[in-house]
Amino acid sequence: MVYTIAVIRGDGIGPEIVGATVSVLLGAFPGAFEFVDVEAGLEYYRRTGKRAEEGWLEKLMEADAVLKGPLETPKEGGFKSLNLELRRELGLRVSIRPFKSIPGISPVEGLDLVLVRELLEDVYSGVEAEFPGGAFALKIVTVEGTREAASLAGEAARMREARVTILHKSTVVRKADGLWLRVARETLEGMGVEHEDMLVDTAAYVMVKEPARIRVALAQSAAGDILSDVAAGLVGSLGLAGSAMIGVRHMVFEPVHGSAPDIAGRGIANPSSMLLSASLMMQYLGQRRGDERIARAGRALEAAVLAVLRSGCRTPDLGGECSTMQFANLVHGLLTGALGKKKGEKPRRSGRSLRLR
Ligand code: IPM
Ligand code: MN
Repeated sequence: MVYTIAVIRGDGIGPEIVGATVSVLLGAFPGAFEFVDVEAGLEYYRRTGKRAEEGWLEKLMEADAVLKGPLETPKEGGFKSLNLELRRELGLRVSIRPFKSIPGISPVEGLDLVLVRELLEDVYSGVEAEFPGGAFALKIVTVEGTREAASLAGEAARMREARVTILHKSTVVRKADGLWLRVARETLEGMGVEHEDMLVDTAAYVMVKEPARIRVALAQSAAGDILSDVAAGLVGSLGLAGSAMIGVRHMVFEPVHGSAPDIAGRGIANPSSMLLSASLMMQYLGQRRGDERIARAGRALEAAVLAVLRSGCRTPDLGGECSTMQFANLVHGLLTGALGKKKGEKPRRSGRSLRLR
């Protein structure tokens, strides 16, 4: 099967890390993907006066998945966030972010967490208003949104043979978090997935004190936003976190970090988060299309990225001297079996099985 992937290269370091990732995918999995570029972002806006090319959303919707670099939203305003529009227009209701300690890099050992976060509701619903002397933002929680997030958490728990930890603050936000907790429990029970619940502040403490404890966390939008940066800090860098945003019809894969304009264009950006996002893309394509080969290749891509990180080839953000492309080339080499052979040995053939055609 050839998958059509819409590619947004994005702003800042985006074009470099997306370019490196696309070249690894083309080289290591020939014939598996067809890439369609879609232009959008701040840099595109400065060039053309438009935030995104004509028909950009349609192009994204037609693809099997979207691989996306960071898109910058200017702080000075006058430019609506493309990131948020994308989530709403494509119905990307749930984000999935895996975090795993890497020996020699992470300040803590044993963290191995998938954070599943509802994206469109909670205080991030955008329902806000001012009143004389103040302002409010509404915390919206719906049955449908909760169910969708809980069922993706349930799937993630099944895949890793773990239980789901439902995060909430229903002791204070009785109605909204009460509904969240009840519907999440019902959904997971319906799926036959083991679960527990934990107050969200306790969860923040547990994540830091006992990093191995929570394996799949189900969080609302605001708490999930904060905890995913905490988890990235425990792994050692935002530059190591890939993510998926999943809706009923569409899927977008992107790094958790921003566009890092200060180091853009120097060839030194860390492509790990983008490569790990691509690995997630392959695993979710595999799961949704019942294509075990692409899922397996996605897991191999993740293993290769982690192996290169452990081998010591690291970009300057991690204290190393590797360039973006040196890193990507090592990942490519591991996947195709061109690396890792001992003296006198023939190139490993295992790499061949990764070729999808
Ligand atoms: C993230 C970001 C976004 C979010 C912002 C840019 C809206 O912080 O993806 O974590 O809060 O979801
Ligand atoms: Mn965030």
